Amino acid sequence: MRQAGRSLPEYRERRGGDDILETCRHPEEVVELTLQPLRRMPVDAAILFSDIMVPLHAIGVPIRIEAGRGPVVDDPIRDAAGVARLRPLEPETDEPHAMEAIRLLVKELEVPLIGFAGAPFTLASYLVEGGPSRTFARTKAMLYGEPVVFGRLLEALADIVRAHLHAQIDAGVRVVQVFDSWVGVLDRDDYRRAVLPHMTRLFEGIAGTDVPAIHFGVGTGHLLDLLRDAGGDALGVDHRIPLDDAWSTIGHDRAIQGNLDPAALLGPWDVVARKARDVVARAAGRDGHVFNLGHGVLPDTPVEHLQRLVDLVHEETVRPAT
Ligand code: CP3
Repeated sequence: MRQAGRSLPEYRERRGGDDILETCRHPEEVVELTLQPLRRMPVDAAILFSDIMVPLHAIGVPIRIEAGRGPVVDDPIRDAAGVARLRPLEPETDEPHAMEAIRLLVKELEVPLIGFAGAPFTLASYLVEGGPSRTFARTKAMLYGEPVVFGRLLEALADIVRAHLHAQIDAGVRVVQVFDSWVGVLDRDDYRRAVLPHMTRLFEGIAGTDVPAIHFGVGTGHLLDLLRDAGGDALGVDHRIPLDDAWSTIGHDRAIQGNLDPAALLGPWDVVARKARDVVARAAGRDGHVFNLGHGVLPDTPVEHLQRLVDLVHEETVRPAT
């Protein structure tokens, strides 16, 4: 989850002012930016340097990512004609550089590489709003006012996402994460009607591979059983719900990823350590806990706190040899 982020000086230096979507078209840059955080700290996996908007950019949707703001779409999708403009993704011709970067990375990495994609609802929110939103008013207006058109939008996006994930899996990623970052703004009824069928189809579409999938959302405490039903070998949760409560709801037969508040890392080290130990304690030594932040690394995070956190988690989770 933006693990490298902007917290590393070498990252900021390397990235400069280019749009991240442009940087993602250069495999050697992607390799370098993916490896940077691993040189700083012994994390157990690497996350591909990319963005959820990459496959949409690859099929020609006019998107840019503004620093400090996020994805911006100048010609938002508001009707059936807009939905019809989305064409299927053909990874070999539309985004060969992404697959090339993955192939180079898996040769070099000693830890598994995580590939990822945005979920249809979260991608739709950017396409419909035209940019980041607090209320998701236009997205909800379309969902309620034009449910058939909205359904077609999610269907088209689910097909794009499935193709994008399959291509990453074929190129060698060992895990995929599906980010439905903003789906927590919906109530249970909306989720069940409008989103769940598309997510079920998406997870079924990648179920034939032996690559596990992580299903993540922010503020999804009220939806967790539905997200679980939709699919994913692991569910990713943010800090707003205690990890043990979330895991009981999901069921201990699934894995869980989370859930230290990224803002905790901005506090003094003793607070970071206390909160991190609390997350580990709530996992209670069970198999299937992937320690992570509940959301992305914030730009002003001290690198030293990230490094000490990785060490603390490793120390706290060592198990006697069996
Ligand atoms: O750190 C990494 O290399 C991981 C790769 C990664 C990025 N984006 C790179 C990125 C991942 C996993 C994402 C996912 C992503 N992108 C999500 C889902 C996860 C989440 O955080 O909820 C979402 C919603 C986006 C859309 C997006 N892209 C936002 C909201 C922003 C932040 C804009 C800002 O400046 O505040 C981006 C830009 C972005 N994507 C950055 C990185 C490292 C930072 C800016 C940059 O270097 O250009």
